Amino acid sequence: MDLKPLDYSNGAALVTGGTSGIGKEISFELVRRGVCKLVIVAQNEDELNEVAGELHKLDPACEVHTIATDLSEHGAAAKVRENVDTKGWPVEILVNDAGFARKYVFAENPKSDPSLAMVDLMVRTVVDLSLHFLPDMVQRGRGGILNLGSTAGYSPVPFTAVYAASKAFVISFSQAIREENRDSGVRIACIVPGITDTNLDGDGHGEKRGVLDAVGIDDPADVAKGAVDVLENNEAARTFGWNNKLLAAAQSLLPESTNAHLIAKSRGRPGEDGEA
Ligand SMILES: NC(=O)c1ccc[n+]([C@@H]2O[C@H](COP(=O)([O-])OP(=O)(O)OC[C@H]3O[C@@H](n4cnc5c(N)ncnc54)[C@H](OP(=O)(O)O)[C@@H]3O)[C@@H](O)[C@H]2O)c1
Repeated sequence: MDLKPLDYSNGAALVTGGTSGIGKEISFELVRRGVCKLVIVAQNEDELNEVAGELHKLDPACEVHTIATDLSEHGAAAKVRENVDTKGWPVEILVNDAGFARKYVFAENPKSDPSLAMVDLMVRTVVDLSLHFLPDMVQRGRGGILNLGSTAGYSPVPFTAVYAASKAFVISFSQAIREENRDSGVRIACIVPGITDTNLDGDGHGEKRGVLDAVGIDDPADVAKGAVDVLENNEAARTFGWNNKLLAAAQSLLPESTNAHLIAKSRGRPGEDGEA
């Protein structure tokens, strides 16, 4: 089936992680392209209200609904769906953006280890939100899901192992369900950014990969424009930017074990290099 152009004025768009970094910029970009009902989801209520105010200034006709919730909790997707249903807004665009990364040695401190929260947020809830919203999109024969991959998903990243593995999952999952829905009229797209200037590590930085940071740090507004283009074009898994494409090509020439070793060497263990 040929895809009809995305009509942003249909229904609502829902952006997880819509208060910061790439997700915030995607929210702005969607409103600029004509979305007039927007749901943003994050944990911090003050930031949600602040961003809703900024979006309202950008387009006073756009209605913004905020949901403050921890998306790493089991059942969060069902809660989000129930909440949106009280508004009576059909979600036509779902952006699975919320995420976080930390530098740590897996299982070194099992009690404070963030691995399961990462899997719950960036794998489980991505799948669960898709389960809650995709069937209606397919029934309407339009709309789409935009997932946030990462070039960290292309090869193992020691000291951010579970984050990188989660992103490998997102890239694979997106491509497979995109193909399953090829004739449905629904887009399933995945943008694969490299290192971007955000607060992903909770300390004012995006992903960090030691020497590989030299490939360049992208601006979240540029990544967001690329991401919404990727959704429009229903692209399978577009690596953002020539810098990241080159790096991915170079890494693909080496065995994964070598990539893992080089990245570990260049980053140093947590605490050795001042990286958060
Ligand atoms: N920055 C990079 O270098 C980079 C590179 C490739 C891909 N990405 C991907 O881009 C996406 C956005 O990250 P970002 O870099 O823009 O980071 P960011 O600036 O830290 O934004 C993360 C967003 O996710 C929300 N969030 C985090 N944990 C949450 C939870 N448990 N429940 C609900 N919301 C939660 C945050 O709000 P609250 O804190 O209020 O919850 C915030 O709105 C992620 O999927 C990331 O993997 C980033």
